[in-house]
Amino acid sequence: MRVLVTGVEGYIGVLLAPILMGRGHDVVGLDTGFYRDGWLFSDSQRMPIFPPLISKDLRKVTENDLEGFDAVVHLAELSNDPLGQNNPENTFDINYRGSVELARKAKKRGVKRFVYTSSCSVYGVGNGDFLSEASKTNPQTAYANCKVLVEEGVSRLADSEFSPTFLRNATAYGPSPRMRFDIVLNNLSGLAWTTRKIAMTSDGTPWRPLVHVLDICQAIACAVEAPRESVHNEIFNVGHNQDNYSVKEIAHIVKETFPGCEVTMGRSGGDNRSYRASFAKIREKLPGFKCQWDARKGAEHLREVFERIDMPSETFEFRAFTRLKQLEFLIKTKQIDQQFFWK
Ligand SMILES: NC(=O)c1ccc[n+]([C@@H]2O[C@H](COP(=O)([O-])OP(=O)(O)OC[C@H]3O[C@@H](n4cnc5c(N)ncnc54)[C@H](O)[C@@H]3O)[C@@H](O)[C@H]2O)c1
Repeated sequence: MRVLVTGVEGYIGVLLAPILMGRGHDVVGLDTGFYRDGWLFSDSQRMPIFPPLISKDLRKVTENDLEGFDAVVHLAELSNDPLGQNNPENTFDINYRGSVELARKAKKRGVKRFVYTSSCSVYGVGNGDFLSEASKTNPQTAYANCKVLVEEGVSRLADSEFSPTFLRNATAYGPSPRMRFDIVLNNLSGLAWTTRKIAMTSDGTPWRPLVHVLDICQAIACAVEAPRESVHNEIFNVGHNQDNYSVKEIAHIVKETFPGCEVTMGRSGGDNRSYRASFAKIREKLPGFKCQWDARKGAEHLREVFERIDMPSETFEFRAFTRLKQLEFLIKTKQIDQQFFWK
């Protein structure tokens, strides 16, 4: 299939494009390149091999850009809660309006499949039950609110010619050349490697479902390739039931993976986000999908990469590996304007 991957230069996209190409798809990428300054590592599977790139802001995509694609995989958004909370207008503009407009233009140009990377953060605050795709959403942040709005807006476009699929990913972990150290397991592993100390401010009780970044890539590839009737206008939580951890358990896994690391817990914090997700549907209904990883293997995978590149603290703290820091730097240095357009 001819597939457009937006956000192709990000944490997930940079791994996804070569995987789709390896499965025989003709891939074109689109990205505005906010995090181009960062490249953590290369290896035989993750050499910097890029598909042809449309270097463009999502908000400036035209219908012509979307001509001739069988599928769009849409990743290009401001990708986390702190970014969204600090920039609610830009988040609304890019994540909500930009995403729904992209789907509308894609449909108009005859694109048949639209795979959207939503998030389990739409569940926000749960009561400890395993929340399924049919459970009520309860978004707590601008980022999560936009995810719900995009799902609703794009779902309304579904018809016999246009099949959107909504993948509600758990929080990702695992090494990627376009690393993110602002997501929980990557962050704690980086701290353990560079300081041998994890001082949690929270009591660690909130639940967080996790999923390896390569399992997200696999889910996306399976959704692109699945028979239409399996994925048409369907929502799937992406992860594995056993990968619902309390933050305390995540810290414990990291402590065991990085010998000599100390962990101390704080008192309950201000973060009320806590949810457990059920991943039964994706296991049963998405052809070919099976999670290959868990958090313990993921932490070991991170440690192997840190050892191989002998990662110094400056690399762990480098702005491009923390999404909010990099955007603040681009604004401060007047490279992007207040609306996040390049100057
Ligand atoms: N990583 C996770 O834990 C996770 C979990 C659930 C959902 N998701 C979703 O998956 C998608 C990708 O996540 P990621 O972790 O790879 O994020 P990322 O921040 O690493 O990558 C996003 C990419 O999109 C690009 N982008 C952002 N705004 C753009 C715009 N206006 N125009 C063009 N390009 C733009 C950025 O330059 C970046 O390369 C996001 O939609 C995110 O919300 C991620």
